[in-house]
Amino acid sequence: MKRKVIVIGIGAGNPDHVTMQAVDALNRVSVLFIPDKGTEKTDLAQLRRQICERFIRNDDYRMVDFATPPRKRSTPDYRQDINIWREQVEDVYQRLLTEELGDDDCGAFLVWGDPSIYDGTLRILEKIRAKGALELEYEVIPGISSVQALAARHRVPLHGIGASIMITTGRKLAEGFPDDVDSVVVMLDAANAFKTVDGDLDIHWGAYVGMDEEILLSGKVRDVGDEIERLRDNAREEHGWIMDSYLLTRAGKDDGE
Ligand SMILES: C[S@@+](CC[C@H](N)C(=O)[O-])C[C@H]1O[C@@H](n2cnc3c(N)ncnc32)[C@H](O)[C@@H]1O
Repeated sequence: MKRKVIVIGIGAGNPDHVTMQAVDALNRVSVLFIPDKGTEKTDLAQLRRQICERFIRNDDYRMVDFATPPRKRSTPDYRQDINIWREQVEDVYQRLLTEELGDDDCGAFLVWGDPSIYDGTLRILEKIRAKGALELEYEVIPGISSVQALAARHRVPLHGIGASIMITTGRKLAEGFPDDVDSVVVMLDAANAFKTVDGDLDIHWGAYVGMDEEILLSGKVRDVGDEIERLRDNAREEHGWIMDSYLLTRAGKDDGE
């Protein structure tokens, strides 16, 4: 039996980000897998539910909540920890696909933003498919990523004219601002990595971009860095979780297409 799944990018937190293609896909689905990544993410699971209620025009679907295993520091090696964790997550997904999808079902994973950016779902499904433990067919629907949402809310292009952009993590940025690009989008920054860079860089920062809680701030890192740190701490305290990202650009980067 072939299991069918659609991986649907749902945008970065604003239900208005959901595309017409995603709405069509949602209406083909009979089983929606809703991850609950811990208490701080309950708000996000709630948003996925709201999206289903708003856009699915039939009652022929059910939701299956599932818990993703927590990431643990079990070895001194970060990559090894990640690999152990990924295998545990793969097992969870494989079990869901095997136990929850029947012949006539079409399952869906609703992925935050766009599935191609810092999200493990596509890799996990490909691993499961490649293992051959079950026959799996999946399709991907792109979503508006937090990168695009951030740029739109600040009304800035991401790159200088004809130049490159890098998308990276706070962890990588903390190793140094790259020499060969002028524009870097930073996601998944748990430790204020923007405080490690040259204060002359421009930063366009946004938390909860597109959501009711949205906060935006921009300026030279040396002028706004402390304020961003304070805003992050307060927001994390108030909501119990934060999703923020930022664009760093070298002063003098060309503005343009
Ligand atoms: C696991 S990644 C998922 C990225 C997602 N696939 C995307 O396309 O935006 C989570 C990170 O995305 C960024 N992010 C997601 N939603 C955001 C939002 N509404 N506002 C600001 N940053 C957001 C944050 O950097 C967060 O740490």
